[in-house]
Amino acid sequence: MTATRLPAQLIRAKRDGEELTDAELRAVMAAITDGSIPDYQVSALLMAIFFRGLSDRELATWADAMVRSGDVLDLSAIARAKVDKHSTGGVGDKISLPLAPAVAACGVAVPMVSGRGLGHTGGTLDKLEAIPGFRVDLSVERFTQLVDELGVCLIGQTARIAPADKRLYALRDVTGTIESIPLIASSIMSKKLAEGIDGLVLDCKVGRGAFMKKLPDARALCAAIRTIGEAAGKRVTCVLTQMDAPIGTHVGNALEVVETIEVLRGGGPDDTRELTIALGAEMLVLGGVARDAADGAARIAAALDDGRALAVFRRLVEAQGGDPRVCDAPDEVLPRARVTEVIAAERDGVVARLDAEAIGIAGVWLGAGRRTKEDAIDPAAGVVLAAREGGLVRRGQPLATLHHDEPGADRVAQARALVAGAISVDERITAWPRRSRVIEVLRGTLAP
Ligand code: URA
Repeated sequence: MTATRLPAQLIRAKRDGEELTDAELRAVMAAITDGSIPDYQVSALLMAIFFRGLSDRELATWADAMVRSGDVLDLSAIARAKVDKHSTGGVGDKISLPLAPAVAACGVAVPMVSGRGLGHTGGTLDKLEAIPGFRVDLSVERFTQLVDELGVCLIGQTARIAPADKRLYALRDVTGTIESIPLIASSIMSKKLAEGIDGLVLDCKVGRGAFMKKLPDARALCAAIRTIGEAAGKRVTCVLTQMDAPIGTHVGNALEVVETIEVLRGGGPDDTRELTIALGAEMLVLGGVARDAADGAARIAAALDDGRALAVFRRLVEAQGGDPRVCDAPDEVLPRARVTEVIAAERDGVVARLDAEAIGIAGVWLGAGRRTKEDAIDPAAGVVLAAREGGLVRRGQPLATLHHDEPGADRVAQARALVAGAISVDERITAWPRRSRVIEVLRGTLAP
């Protein structure tokens, strides 16, 4: 029998670049979960992992131990394939809202456990809660029932899903160990693998408004996610998508629901529709419903255009306690800001840059996100962009509209300055090629 090493020995071993055994990693995770290892030793181990990384074997074991720190939902009684989508976080990223019902309408079940806004990026739960009455705190039993009956349900992380991640995330947040690829990948996957899915499409955002600013880092995160997913026997497809400018036109919780309804009616901004179709297509391929991405794209587009996706969304809203009239008259049902103010172009030209991060931070100042953990969200707050990258504008035309409730507040002045600085109009440019949001698709090795 090999002697068990003390926590301090394990920290030293990782610090010096040694691989830990599977048994050691599982024992550490058990101690993280039951609280028998103190914060200072967990923090030191996280910092050692931050600098030394984890081998593929260590990564798969570490993530699996995180999944097993809590409950794994058993959705095996649901006959349909179960596939989820996760985004690494963006600005104006409302894609889950039109995507989940569209995919369900095409025959693949979507059990989605979502998060709240983080930093300058928005969260699906906050957007859904902008719909009056909408509940994201359903029981696991009700969640399973709705995934079976409607093919889709969206809830928040429960205390029983990946509790080790909760402790690790809180420590990483305050110990400078957030930006570690193995730690981010295991954190994301611990929650997704606990959902009882067969496959996952990861929307890995890259660019100014994303946590991953550089393509090589985004590719490394995708590789880590696939290592963890495939070790667990799940099919994983990673779609790298461009996140320099906000997605679509609406940024802010209720405002993004308005744009969602447009997309579910077959309209909406080009890029919001493009991402919904591209990610949905990959989900249908993983779920075995589409032959390939082109077939999947045609099916999702049809579900958006013929009203089937909207019909599923209506049933979902109703089943989760929300007001389904949001599908017919979103402007009447959703909360509206007391004040709207327009930012106008100061010169003629082409919109050469829309800085997603600055607009995301402006949204937080307006109340669409949280400045502190305790902050309440203002569901009506946000920014609606009239300007799109590459669009022609004339002096005096609106570039953006701020939605808020407090004219004269310092925080609104901050937001105004950020939005004005985030939109660059260039008089010298006359033509601008439209860029696809999709940079590349990395499909896994496990065949559907
Ligand atoms: N999202 C997560 O769930 N975990 C991370 O570490 C980063 C983003």
